[in-house]
Amino acid sequence: MPRGKPKIAIFGGTGDLGSALAKKWAKKGYGIIIGSRSKEKATRIARSMRKELDVKSIEGFELAEAAKLCDLGVITVPYISHATTLKAVKKFMQGKILVDTTVPFQKEVTKVSLPKAGSAAIEAQNILGGGVTVIAALQNIGSHLLSSEDSIDAEVLISGNDEEAVNLVTKLIEDLGLRSWHAGPLENSAAAEAVTSILIAINKKYKRKSSGIKITSH
Ligand SMILES: NC(=O)c1ccc[n+]([C@@H]2O[C@H](COP(=O)([O-])OP(=O)(O)OC[C@H]3O[C@@H](n4cnc5c(N)ncnc54)[C@H](OP(=O)(O)O)[C@@H]3O)[C@@H](O)[C@H]2O)c1
Repeated sequence: MPRGKPKIAIFGGTGDLGSALAKKWAKKGYGIIIGSRSKEKATRIARSMRKELDVKSIEGFELAEAAKLCDLGVITVPYISHATTLKAVKKFMQGKILVDTTVPFQKEVTKVSLPKAGSAAIEAQNILGGGVTVIAALQNIGSHLLSSEDSIDAEVLISGNDEEAVNLVTKLIEDLGLRSWHAGPLENSAAAEAVTSILIAINKKYKRKSSGIKITSH
């Protein structure tokens, strides 16, 4: 990991959550690589972001190339493509950190549904192997909130086993304008992934646009 700001590849950076993260981090001075299944799509979106933000530090590449060029990766693809995307970047993510934002939704998004392994993030760790440090975060923050300049009245749970990696992800999340909590080992990502279905159920029932969570203490 470099001493300065890491170069971040966002696998799925062409989509809703990934592009919101890309723009926020680019504005904070991080080098961003948009990773896509299509190099053409990645370069087009990266060009449009550079123009919109008037920055030079956003590039676009196909998934494996994006993994090769980054210091740290973030995965923001639908659960249906989670395993395929991870397999595409596995070789070049060895020795690096992978931040997993995935909620493993099935058909009913208001119903908690977790994979047999325990969580999407545990599945990611199993696919990538011990050479990659998987940290789970950001499952409970809507992309529409991140793409706005308004402050966000919610907090982020980070699950992961490596203290140094958790500290780095904490800093990345702080640079999104969000407070986060280290919520324990990677297994605890199951709870954060499950909470998203609860928040969507609350949004539906109480006609809220974006409910969120905050940790209280006395
Ligand atoms: N959106 C949110 O508010 C939010 C909040 C918290 C967590 N998350 C999690 O973040 C992940 C991404 O959510 P999103 O809403 O940003 O997704 P999205 O916009 O629908 O898709 C993100 C990107 O994933 C790639 N992709 C790969 N396989 C795909 C497929 N089968 N169908 C569609 N796109 C595919 C596409 O990139 P290329 O075509 O360029 O490859 C697409 O631009 C999900 O796992 C979700 O649970 C989302």
